[in-house]
Amino acid sequence: MTDPLVVFTPSGKRGRVPAGTSVLDAARRLGVDLDSVCGGRGICSKCQVAPGEGAFPKHGVTVAPDALSEFNAVERRYDEKRGLKPGRRLGCQACIQGDVVIDVPPESQVHKQVVRKAASDRAITLDPATRLHFVTVEEPDMDAPSGDLERLRAALKAQWDLDGLSVPLPVLQGLQPALRKGGWEVTVAVNHDTGSIAAIWPGLRTAAPLGLAVDLGSTTIAAHLCDLGTGAVLASGGIMNPQIRFGEDLMSRVSYAMMNANGATEMTAAVRTALGALAAELAAEAGIAPADIVETVIVCNPVMHHLLIGVDPVELGQAPFALATSDALPLEASDLGLDALAPGARAYLLPCIAGHVGADAAAVALSEAPDQADEMTLIVDVGTNAEILLGNRDGLLACSSPTGPAFEGAQISSGQRAAPGAIERVEIDPVTKTPRFRVIGSDIWSDDPAFDAEVTGICGSGIIEAVAEMRLAGLLDAGGLIGSAEQTGTERCIAEGRTHSYLLWEDGDRRILVTQGDVRAIQLAKSALYAGARLLMDEAGVDSVDRVTLAGAFGAHISPKHAMVLGMIPDADLTKVGSAGNAAGHGARMALCDRGLRTRIEGLVRRIQKVETAVAPRFQEHFVAANAIPHATAPFPHLGP
Ligand code: FES
Repeated sequence: MTDPLVVFTPSGKRGRVPAGTSVLDAARRLGVDLDSVCGGRGICSKCQVAPGEGAFPKHGVTVAPDALSEFNAVERRYDEKRGLKPGRRLGCQACIQGDVVIDVPPESQVHKQVVRKAASDRAITLDPATRLHFVTVEEPDMDAPSGDLERLRAALKAQWDLDGLSVPLPVLQGLQPALRKGGWEVTVAVNHDTGSIAAIWPGLRTAAPLGLAVDLGSTTIAAHLCDLGTGAVLASGGIMNPQIRFGEDLMSRVSYAMMNANGATEMTAAVRTALGALAAELAAEAGIAPADIVETVIVCNPVMHHLLIGVDPVELGQAPFALATSDALPLEASDLGLDALAPGARAYLLPCIAGHVGADAAAVALSEAPDQADEMTLIVDVGTNAEILLGNRDGLLACSSPTGPAFEGAQISSGQRAAPGAIERVEIDPVTKTPRFRVIGSDIWSDDPAFDAEVTGICGSGIIEAVAEMRLAGLLDAGGLIGSAEQTGTERCIAEGRTHSYLLWEDGDRRILVTQGDVRAIQLAKSALYAGARLLMDEAGVDSVDRVTLAGAFGAHISPKHAMVLGMIPDADLTKVGSAGNAAGHGARMALCDRGLRTRIEGLVRRIQKVETAVAPRFQEHFVAANAIPHATAPFPHLGP
């Protein structure tokens, strides 16, 4: 008699197995992704499957009513105590007796696509590095003396075929209480990437382990606490990077490290403390213990990266901008001072691309996948240092460009960070030259009688729109010079010494002006950004790009039209210019949930061609030409006549 045929859906994997084989064993033999924490003891329910009934012409199978064995005692006990959904079976208990089609529902798959909540969400595949394994460990015996750890190792080998796992000291310190509390049954969290044990819990633990995806920025630290069983984000939050007190931007922090004997150490301590506090805050919000977090993935720029790992960033402040290491870093979380996480929790830092293009840019590349696109794609992560990627499936280039802090509202006369009260949207009537604006925290435009928001300053996106609108309204010329009241026909252009400023808002003696100095600061910043992009286009041998993606929190708020009117970005079809939101944070989450992506980004970063703007003569030429608005020579056909 031929062995029964089993077809698994949705994978379509099929094969014959001897009658009496459990569904879980059949799945393993055929390479089907079916979860199990308890190793087939019938207690974790992770192996649930839905056997089909009747005819399946597509698979050439007709399933007889007795294709699977009846409920055995273990499955019946589970059903009575915990209740199986109708039509569901425990794969580790149900045995195959005849031809059968078996569906593996998403919750029983280890590797699965996380369902998108909104169309704008990008899918994440689940293949976490850390998996749970329930084991029964032999009790100690006077006649056969061996350590608890040795018997745990033997149990992991016998029950899960796991050998040679490393056990960090803090995990070992908790082993004996866990074994005794669990009655010699424990659940072991194993990091399969590093071959190490992250945590041991007494008894059976079916709740999935948790992970923390961190985007460590120079201004803010943002993190997502993720369920590694479902990919769901349980809590998200951010805090200011406390290193700000040592310097607003990256270079001032490098200077602080250079000029103070313990400067780098102080900044390392500050950021580690903040990271630990953020992890604790998110754990509290999600109602879990920080010790349930078994892994963290961190992305950051090179200076943040070095300060986090305790390396003095002084070399990053001077040519040739050598990194201590550009490789991905698998570390113990405790190496970074994250002692409250699981005792053997791991930290993974994505690789850096170059001295000024960090792991955050690598995370953006992972999230946006320009290396898998046919279109020539330009990705700009706007900050005090713009990180720029250009390319498609034929190759990818990267550089950074020193835009300075103007895009963050610094060096602007009424500039401020993006916070409630900051002007973020500006329109200027081209005929009357009258402005209207919106501030962060209010949906109402300033010319609406209902507008009553407090106005505190202007943020980066606001100043970009203001300068672009001034150009469109004829208030400033292509060289960036603000006209006089006579030249522009509006009293809002006010003489200030030998230059002019445009009055955006006033209330009593409080005024927000766009000064000539503000326009110059924006011109310098946008010229640097454009020149960086243009340099990469030269290297790639292209005159135009098919798609422009603005990444980062700031990029999410820039209006594509105004960015192009200013000449911040090269000309492109405006419908192909968009924002990727916090792409670096998303990339960190992807690498946290899918360990295969770590290998992918490590390989991709090695293949990215790095271009150093500081030593490229063409950069200066592009910078000078880009000072005009939008540009001295480059055409911008998509802006229209
Ligand atoms: Fe745990 Fe089946 S593998 S219940």
